[in-house]
Amino acid sequence: MRVLLTGHQGYLGTVMAPVLADAGHEITGLDAGLFADCVLGPPPADPPGHRVDLRDVTADHLAGADAVIHLAALSNDPLGALAPDLTYAINHHASVRLAKLARDAGVRRFLYASTCSVYGAAGGDDLVTEDAPLRPVTPYAESKVRVEDDLHALADTDFTPVFLRNATAFGHSPR
Ligand SMILES: NC(=O)c1ccc[n+]([C@@H]2O[C@H](COP(=O)([O-])OP(=O)(O)OC[C@H]3O[C@@H](n4cnc5c(N)ncnc54)[C@H](O)[C@@H]3O)[C@@H](O)[C@H]2O)c1
Repeated sequence: MRVLLTGHQGYLGTVMAPVLADAGHEITGLDAGLFADCVLGPPPADPPGHRVDLRDVTADHLAGADAVIHLAALSNDPLGALAPDLTYAINHHASVRLAKLARDAGVRRFLYASTCSVYGAAGGDDLVTEDAPLRPVTPYAESKVRVEDDLHALADTDFTPVFLRNATAFGHSPR
């Protein structure tokens, strides 16, 4: 598949791009490059990509894509709390706009990097399921909940968003 991978120069994206390429997919990145020079060890071999802010994405960036994997975001609680308006502009509004552009361009699959932080204080010490209530407690987590809500409304038989509520990753990444 031809995959547009946003956030390809971040902690996860730098690892994910070669995994996807090795699986036979054709990867195009899209990243503002905030951490492009934050390299640990040998420089990673990035796929071809667009150096663009998520808020400035146009239909041209989606042309020809079969799927989008959307990682780009202000990506954790302390960063998201520095300027909540900016967090909502990038993480929420620009993400939903990206999804609409993708749907309009005929992209069928949209994988969204949500977070387990959407559960917030819901669970206490108990395990939660996908059906648990969402109780985000930070602008970062709230922005992710808002995107999930809005992507639900875009879903139909031709456009399938999937939310990955990942836990916190750890370990080495080249960025
Ligand atoms: N790392 C984790 O443990 C974890 C856990 C759960 C969810 N997530 C989610 O996965 C995604 C990737 O996480 P990560 O750890 O790789 O984050 P990261 O901060 O390392 O990478 C995010 C990337 O997004 C880019 N970006 C930020 N703002 C942008 C903008 N306005 N326009 C274009 N690009 C922009 C940055 O340049 C960066 O390369 C994020 O959405 C994050 O919320 C991560």
